[in-house]
Amino acid sequence: MEFKFLIVFHLLGACVWVGGHLILAATILPKALRLKDPEVISGFESMFEKIGIPSLIIQVITGVRMSMIKLPVSEWFNFQNQISALISLKIILLLMTIALAIHARLFIIPKLDAQKISILGWHITGVTFIAVLMLLTGLSFRYSIL
Ligand code: HEM
Repeated sequence: MEFKFLIVFHLLGACVWVGGHLILAATILPKALRLKDPEVISGFESMFEKIGIPSLIIQVITGVRMSMIKLPVSEWFNFQNQISALISLKIILLLMTIALAIHARLFIIPKLDAQKISILGWHITGVTFIAVLMLLTGLSFRYSIL
């Protein structure tokens, strides 16, 4: 029962996180680049972060708990089996997401103007690509996708 509960919340979080980033990368970003208007992105982000950040936190809590049920924490990074490799990959991708978010928050968003918008575009593309990789890594626990 606990695992079913965890996976339902994990998948709800994945829908919001991956779906929100695909909308941002595929519709909002091209519009902002075309109009050279950073406000288009900040308008979407201020709305999305209210649900996007709680979703990512839920992903981490449910993901860590499911990983603990699958393998003891001491075996997560030993790469002795596929489960340990997938858990390690999930954590590496999570750290890359956090690093990109901190870099954008500290160095790009405070000085965002029409010139810097393309750098933010690369960040958005990177975080979206990583989000899709997180989803494929998650599915690989059951189906050999990666
Ligand atoms: C943006 C972040 C994440 C996304 C989009 C994501 C997405 C997914 C998806 C789509 C699944 C497949 C569920 C199924 O089999 O039906 C999954 C499974 C899983 N995820 Fe995540 N995940 C994320 C973060 C994490 C984190 C941080 C961890 C912990 C290290 C984690 C651990 C797991 C585990 C252990 C499973 C296997 C569940 C199972 O099928 O038995 N995930 N994830």
